[in-house]
Amino acid sequence: MNILTTPAENVPGNRIIAAGYINTQQLWICELYHAGIRVQICNYGATIMSVILPDRNGVPLNIVAGFSLPQHYLGVHPYFGSTVGRFANRIANARFEIDGKVYQLSANEPPNHLHGGVQGLDKKVWRIESRYADADRTAITLGYDSPDGEEGYPGNVNLSVTYTLTANKELQVSYTAVTDKSTILNLTNHSYFNLSGFSSDTIAGHTLQVLAEAYAAKEAGGIPTGEILPVAGTSLDFRQPRIIGEVLGDFPADRGLDHYWLLQGAAGELLPMATLADASSGICMQVHTNQPGCQIYTANFWDGTITGEQGVRYNKHGAIAIETQNIPDAPNHAHFPSALLEPGDVYSAVTSFRFSYL
Ligand code: BGC
Repeated sequence: MNILTTPAENVPGNRIIAAGYINTQQLWICELYHAGIRVQICNYGATIMSVILPDRNGVPLNIVAGFSLPQHYLGVHPYFGSTVGRFANRIANARFEIDGKVYQLSANEPPNHLHGGVQGLDKKVWRIESRYADADRTAITLGYDSPDGEEGYPGNVNLSVTYTLTANKELQVSYTAVTDKSTILNLTNHSYFNLSGFSSDTIAGHTLQVLAEAYAAKEAGGIPTGEILPVAGTSLDFRQPRIIGEVLGDFPADRGLDHYWLLQGAAGELLPMATLADASSGICMQVHTNQPGCQIYTANFWDGTITGEQGVRYNKHGAIAIETQNIPDAPNHAHFPSALLEPGDVYSAVTSFRFSYL
């Protein structure tokens, strides 16, 4: 199936494309379509497989890194489009405490815990909870029940993620979760964007604006030191739109951007966080979130060994991930926003990616 030539539909809707089995569990793709945009989601990892929209001349482009079949996601890849958790990014020494009790997580990036562990949410087969379409939007909700002790995390946690495509060219990603024991939670989506549709193999020429006054300082290994520092006067100052390539060389240890920016404003409100734009395709993407900020990662370790859905090799700086979430290692820093989820609470994280043209 050539996903770029499927006819674009302008009536909102969704359809399931059955795609095969993993053991006895069915893998499938659900395609949401609306306002000239098509988004393919697969239930392995509740993954965003593709986001297809026309460039300024009407040529359809798939602007996210991924594969054409769900089965391909079972192999090694750096979280293409994945739902990441239970705790996105790193937890130092793979341990944290709640009420004096120490929890040891899987140390899948020794000695630290990264992106939910060895078999994180990106490697789970999610179920369909519901599908929906009306004149304004089309949506799918996926669910997964993470058992007590999975990857070392306490509590049976019932998770759901809803992907919604709206009339104003917006892809909303919204998570909810409940637990039966005090636990921690920090979910994100790990889509990598290249707004040229990968016709350019680097995002160095993209423009980025990040509406953050401060960032989380970190040590080698990517663990926050606990200091929240102003971006002013640093290469992380993206308060005005900048060409990303201007700063990629300023972080030799990281090989590019791999940092956490803090949003200012009331926690819990959906606020503008970042804007990414590519002059060649004319595509612009605005990111809003109710999370405390985002980790931005410029695919610094892509090395051309993976060929993606676009038929091109994914090279260093081939795309950019804007991972809206709580601060890495928040459970080990009392002054960071709390990542605690208690029985009776409902976790709610919302991010939207809104597309427009320059
Ligand atoms: C992290 C990087 C990590 C990458 C893995 C990003 O979210 O910030 O440090 O290497 O994910 O793909």
